[in-house]
Amino acid sequence: MTRELRFYADSANVEEISALLADGLVHGVTTNPTILERGRRSVRDIPELYARWEAEGAREIFFQAWGDSAKTMIGNAERLAALGSRVVVKVPATRDGFTTAAALVSAGATVLVTAVYAQAQALAAATVGVRYIAPYLGRLNDAGREGVAEISAMQSLVQGSGTDVLAASLRTPDDIVSLAEVGVPFFTAAPAVILAALYSEVSDRSAEDFEAAVARGLQD
Ligand code: E4P
Repeated sequence: MTRELRFYADSANVEEISALLADGLVHGVTTNPTILERGRRSVRDIPELYARWEAEGAREIFFQAWGDSAKTMIGNAERLAALGSRVVVKVPATRDGFTTAAALVSAGATVLVTAVYAQAQALAAATVGVRYIAPYLGRLNDAGREGVAEISAMQSLVQGSGTDVLAASLRTPDDIVSLAEVGVPFFTAAPAVILAALYSEVSDRSAEDFEAAVARGLQD
């Protein structure tokens, strides 16, 4: 059985994302209101960002619904979903978020439930039929919990249901590897973490040796 693995850029830094997309290194882009703020953007910029990242080849583009009631959140989520076929609507794992998720799934949207911190939330998201759940590894560990073990258990819970884990709050390449080892398929991380996952000093030295051999072979 083959297993698809994917990296996503967890960022709203358009320059860094353009480079990752142009180089074919990420499947798409994930954002939330905090990430937009960090990139000096706001929810007003979402249509422009969607158009940009779609043109740059992102296959999935995640924006998060907001609102202080399920009704408001559903309205915002519907506007996000209407941006285009590559949108995945994120909703927080709250009471209103689950109501929004169920409404969106019924309407045929692709949905991710984010900030999943409990096994029962992971299970509930799968019963609603969302495509992805996003547990936060770094923040679980920050809270003194066993992040990898807990996310591994979530992965087992939703396995085969049509819901997959798209892990977030990944701060090092080793975070990604630890979760891949327990079967998590999808990962979103800041561009710097994605780039760090490509790097080994030894590989760079080997590449220099290869180049030197090519150069010697072309002398005289
Ligand atoms: C994703 O939606 C989260 O905002 C992000 O992964 C959090 O990462 P952090 O815990 O390193 O801030």
